[in-house]
Amino acid sequence: MSGHGTPIPMTSRKCGPLNGEAAVPGDKSISHRALIFGALAVGETKVTGLLEGEDVLDTAKAMRAFGATVTQHGPGEWSVNGVGVGGFSEPDNVIDCGNSGTGVRLIMGVMATQGINATFTGDASLNKRPMGRVTDPIALFGAQSVGRSGGRLPMTIVGATEPVPVEYTVPMPSAQVKSAVLLAGLNAPGQTVVIEKEATRDHTERMLEGFGAEISVEETEDGRRITLTGQPELKPQVISVPRDPSSAAFPTCAATIVPGSEVFVPGVSQNLTRNGIYTTLVEMGADITFENERLEGGEPVADLRVRYAETHGIEVPPARAASMIDEYPVLSVVAALSTGKTVMRGVKELRVKECDRIDAMARGLRACGVTVEEDEDTMIVHGMGPGGVPGGATCESFLDHRIAMSFMVLGMATQNPVSVDDGTPIATSFPVFEDLMKTLGAQIARDNA
Ligand code: S3P
Repeated sequence: MSGHGTPIPMTSRKCGPLNGEAAVPGDKSISHRALIFGALAVGETKVTGLLEGEDVLDTAKAMRAFGATVTQHGPGEWSVNGVGVGGFSEPDNVIDCGNSGTGVRLIMGVMATQGINATFTGDASLNKRPMGRVTDPIALFGAQSVGRSGGRLPMTIVGATEPVPVEYTVPMPSAQVKSAVLLAGLNAPGQTVVIEKEATRDHTERMLEGFGAEISVEETEDGRRITLTGQPELKPQVISVPRDPSSAAFPTCAATIVPGSEVFVPGVSQNLTRNGIYTTLVEMGADITFENERLEGGEPVADLRVRYAETHGIEVPPARAASMIDEYPVLSVVAALSTGKTVMRGVKELRVKECDRIDAMARGLRACGVTVEEDEDTMIVHGMGPGGVPGGATCESFLDHRIAMSFMVLGMATQNPVSVDDGTPIATSFPVFEDLMKTLGAQIARDNA
């Protein structure tokens, strides 16, 4: 499967102890939002620590296409001169969001209540993903959409010229959908209400408040009820993007499974809507200490010291799924090298990510000798214990960065090397993954280098 240029097969082989510091790049979710909110404020928003992965760079291009001035000043240092809420201009060309579901869904939300039209497309992975989850709620504001069958990209959105505010209960746990509705609500008069039954990452709510919108969150019997007053004047901000806890999970899990390792992972978000993986790893017996807890860029963070540990399988509480949804692939790697079975239920959203992540992990793990059971909403990994996984297979990454990185982590502790058919998607979220992991001591090689 291609979509990111020539595929680059990669192999990871058993390595000695991982040691050193793993300072991962900026948070992907917050980076997208910093650019989008900056584009909606009048004046200059300054951003440091921006993730310069392909997904976020595609959002930067999109914001330019809608009329904002987005400038890079140095590594991670960016400014956005925004056009104000409702100030987007109609793009001259198709907006290509690459691999990014977050980018396309949030941007569709923003433009849905502006009287402009835009056509969106993406790579082979994004063009398979469901957009109905966004086009359904934006239709309530008055926007129209026409795409390929099954609500797939490429798709044109006709923004509502006279948007009305809505009250919407998000049918699945999805921060992208919640955010798209809130962003559409920004340019609708009156109050837009979004209800989510399970809490998902709350960066949109935090950032809307930071930019000066009137937004309140109430915990009710039906879930989190978020009320946003439309047509605010957003004020430019200075944003320091914290490191990405989803990226930090890779060196954390690698240090947990490679005997003798000790890795320091600074500035990992402890935001309760993002840190489920760390709670889970500790329950499995991982040796993680949380040091120097503090606030960074408005997010609670801690430095993690991670030492190798023998881990055991657990039943991951389904209620925790939303707070670690992107981390199940790498968790299933730790599970494979743990004793006993790890049961992951309530995870059907994994089937509509950059690929069907349950299927992708199950196929690759099985090829490496691990027993995996699955149904629509469940994945069960039968652990083979420390050092117990044979490996020795080439796994497909299905244009999915987290699948590729997960199998590279697996290969660090299997008896035989583990390869992926294509490592190029890693650049969407964690462009320095390979170099960073090698600095710690990982043995990762590009097969055709
Ligand atoms: C994200 C939300 C999640 C997550 C994605 C980033 C966001 O997707 O998987 O990587 O930034 O809002 P869903 O909304 O589909 O759960």
